[in-house]
Amino acid sequence: MPEDNMDTPCMVTCTAPMNIAVIKYCKYTLNVTLKTTTTVAISRSFKEDRLWLNGKEEDISHPRLQSCLREIRRLARKRRSERNPRSTESVGLSHKVHICSVNNFPTAAGLASSAAGYACLVYTLAQAFGVEGELSGIARQGSGSACRSMYGGFVQWIMGSKEDGKDSVAQQVEPESHWPELRVLVLVASAERKPIGSTSGMQTSVQTSLLLKHRAEAIVPHRMVDMIEAVRRKDFPAFAELTMKESNQLHATCLDTHPPIFYLNSVSQHIIHLVHRYNKYYGETRVAYSFDAGPNAVIFALQQFVPEFVQLVQHFFPPDRNGEDFIKGLP
Ligand code: ADP
Ligand code: CO
Repeated sequence: MPEDNMDTPCMVTCTAPMNIAVIKYCKYTLNVTLKTTTTVAISRSFKEDRLWLNGKEEDISHPRLQSCLREIRRLARKRRSERNPRSTESVGLSHKVHICSVNNFPTAAGLASSAAGYACLVYTLAQAFGVEGELSGIARQGSGSACRSMYGGFVQWIMGSKEDGKDSVAQQVEPESHWPELRVLVLVASAERKPIGSTSGMQTSVQTSLLLKHRAEAIVPHRMVDMIEAVRRKDFPAFAELTMKESNQLHATCLDTHPPIFYLNSVSQHIIHLVHRYNKYYGETRVAYSFDAGPNAVIFALQQFVPEFVQLVQHFFPPDRNGEDFIKGLP
């Protein structure tokens, strides 16, 4: 916490992992090593709050960002007054912050940059302002999936009853150490920014897709139970089947949205075919894919099958060629 007589900023740096939802946008995720690194500096000499994302200054007035900042400052103030009710000083609390955040993976390309980004932002701000306790509810105000990046391992997202989601929290079902043989690969089919942000796409789907309604009521609750079971038993084929069916049904609801939303591209489709052909060749499910709101594939496999599958990907998607070129080379 910066002292009033100090002009050197107080600086805190933290990182958060990105996550992938295996039961789509309802409750379940896995964390992998792609990450966001955020530095927060607080100084009395700063004139205004500012944010740089991947080296470029961004508009700080974004309502979600403002809501996270406001909430952390409110908690810091509350904590301060609880500790010393007669204290009139508010060292650091009125000072402005400079936030600098870098994602080491594509931003807004369906790899949950918003999740890692806001989880990291809220955690780092809390550290800088000396706030402790449950932060996932605040991170969720930045991005719905951010609360799932606050913990490692297998995390269940418990939906709250309040409309603003303030009472939503995340809970760890199993730690990373539970299933160390499980590996996650990310295949970047396109690092471009997607045309539709996840939240606005999801809102249109909620308003117009009957399939989404049916999914939420009749399908997801059962799949949640089965998924937790599969993870607990470390049953890869069961985990893999469910993960792929979830991914495909999510993209079916995108197509069922009016007007429809397309997140997968032709490279994504070829990856899907490759995974199914690979599994069929061995007569068992060794590899699974999952796509969030973007064309990039998250691949799940047990450690022993990773080298062979990576070779296969390199063969069909050689790094020095791109676009239609390598698609033509596919069987
Ligand atoms: P994604 O699939 O990558 O999550 P979204 O459209 O959901 O794409 O979210 C992208 C938005 O999240 C960015 O435009 C930005 O506003 C916010 N965001 C991403 N990374 C960060 C970060 N490191 N810090 C703060 N905000 C971030
Ligand atoms: Co997002």
